[in-house]
Amino acid sequence: MNKEQLVESARNIKESAYAPYSKFPVGAALLLKDGTVINGVNVENVSLGATNCAERTAIFTAIANGYKKGDFSAIAVSGNTADYLPPCSICRQVLAEFCLPDMPVYLTNEKKEILELSLKDLLPYAFTDLDM
Ligand code: THU
Repeated sequence: MNKEQLVESARNIKESAYAPYSKFPVGAALLLKDGTVINGVNVENVSLGATNCAERTAIFTAIANGYKKGDFSAIAVSGNTADYLPPCSICRQVLAEFCLPDMPVYLTNEKKEILELSLKDLLPYAFTDLDM
């Protein structure tokens, strides 16, 4: 699976987003080291704070399916946005819990361009350890 295919997977799964309040569907595609792709979408709630972002849905689904810290190779995120859609700060923190700092994060825009960043580009000086 190359980055274009992973981004395409994130773009396609966006159709399943549950975003009646924001009307801002987001899709994520998480690539595992074994080649599996796990998708996520944002799932909103009338109590808006109960909303879960696409990236966290993907990570939590992977963990629920037995994958562990270190099993993740890359993530792609897609919204219907003119600019590259970056993960929110809570999702960055959740990614930092399970993914290595150098893991690629692929952002895309409505022109289907791809911006490749690393997790540590998005979250430098991450808080990852209570024993400090
Ligand atoms: N959202 C995501 O799912 N991921 C992001 O990277 C940014 C924001 C969702 C949360 C909410 O359902 C909607 O987009 C608007 O904030």
